[in-house]
Amino acid sequence: MSDSTNSFELILFGAAGDLSLRKLIPSLYCLHLDQRIHPEGRIIAVARRDYERSDFLDIVKKALVKHLNKDLFNEETWTSFSKRLSYAQMDITDPSSYDTTLKHFLNRPEAAKIFYLATHSDMYGTICQHLYSHQMLTGDARVVLEKPIGMDYQSAVNVCKEVDKYCNEEQIYRIDHYLGKETVQNLLALRFANSIFEHQWNQRYIDHIQITIAETLGVEQRAGFYESAGAMRDMMQNHLLQLLCMVAMEPPAQLDAESIRDEKVKVLKALKPIVGDQINANVVRGQYQEGSQHGQPTLAYRQEPGVNPHSDTETFVAMKVEIDNWRWAGTPFYLRTGKRLPDRACEIVIQFKEVPHSVFELQNPASMANKLIFRLQPDDGIKLQLCEKRIGKGMSVKPVLLNLTAEHARKDRAPDAYERLLSDAIEGNPTLFLREDELLTAWQWIDPILSAWKQSGSRPEFYHGGIWGPAASTLLLARDGRLWQENH
Ligand code: BG6
Repeated sequence: MSDSTNSFELILFGAAGDLSLRKLIPSLYCLHLDQRIHPEGRIIAVARRDYERSDFLDIVKKALVKHLNKDLFNEETWTSFSKRLSYAQMDITDPSSYDTTLKHFLNRPEAAKIFYLATHSDMYGTICQHLYSHQMLTGDARVVLEKPIGMDYQSAVNVCKEVDKYCNEEQIYRIDHYLGKETVQNLLALRFANSIFEHQWNQRYIDHIQITIAETLGVEQRAGFYESAGAMRDMMQNHLLQLLCMVAMEPPAQLDAESIRDEKVKVLKALKPIVGDQINANVVRGQYQEGSQHGQPTLAYRQEPGVNPHSDTETFVAMKVEIDNWRWAGTPFYLRTGKRLPDRACEIVIQFKEVPHSVFELQNPASMANKLIFRLQPDDGIKLQLCEKRIGKGMSVKPVLLNLTAEHARKDRAPDAYERLLSDAIEGNPTLFLREDELLTAWQWIDPILSAWKQSGSRPEFYHGGIWGPAASTLLLARDGRLWQENH
């Protein structure tokens, strides 16, 4: 039996693109496999290329085999899943194609319509305009917008204004897939369902917080997009700031979308601006050079297909961020993200202050401080570092990591972030999506850094592929007497 009560028609624009084939369609397949979507739900894949439906199904099948875990793909499920899929070949800028093509696929008036725009955000206004003028945005129709929305504050405002002409805020689901990750939701549960942590969750007890999203991959085939985006727009403006909000926000009055979003916006508004000279002091950017990974040589960013050989696009950013409010004044947040780093890892490390006076002999008191570590990937879970006595004579102590993830939770397959968010969009639950003011406040805070980089003509520092970014990233913490948590 399906858990879902809603029949739906999900119209996926940009269906032949990398994101759709790598993440979105595999996630829909998993929702189908686990019977978490309505059995009558249909997926209409929209793209410009002139494929027959059977050609498109071949492409999707190959993508599923490539991107899903082996134990998830089987022929029987594929056969039943493929019956949900149609292919609509159309030029999304041509208004007449909404009538002559798309309308024919939307033949279930009772089904909720979810328009998923996995295209460049420049297209969002145009698509919404045509959907609106063909009466497709009526009733409880929703529009899901992929990130990044805009390339800076002003372009984000422009995209929002265009989309707002045709959709109400309640209809717009702005996605940041990091919010769909299981550990991020568990962070909320841990903070707000337990009283023991909340008392310590402030500048009195926390020394600093680190948030890392590290990737081993390079830019792959995405140079067309990445060259003009870079790590700041691709990861920092959205994923890292969203994780920071989840860690730093005040307890919401309720668990509904508006209460959570209100608290996140307050955090974004309290971010201390980084402007002028503070940019060089607090923000590090890097670009990967040739290197090696698992013994294999890797290309420099500038040698990757489609990349300008003189490109100054950053593939790494590290920053020291401060929050000007009572809870966090004086507790820095260190954020970093990069491609071609030694490990794929996403971690949030809450490092507590050292004990005020130690009666034990400690070689390095900071390394003995308590830490709460939220690991989002590759494996997910929560760990707590405490100190315990070394076995034997004497009274020296050593750090020990306790696993706080319950045994049963580790046995269940954690759904991919996109599975959770797609099923929420289908069900009409906006809690894990961004509100417009969140998006714009994040851009407003990042913008001065992007403009300063552009105006100064300064360049990212190089780092060899396979190391943890440029030396300046280590110095950013060393200057404050701290170290990045490297034991991923
Ligand atoms: C995307 C970025 O939003 O997130 C990619 O555009 C990045 O550049 C990806 O690789 C990382 O997501 P995940 O879930 O694999 O960590």
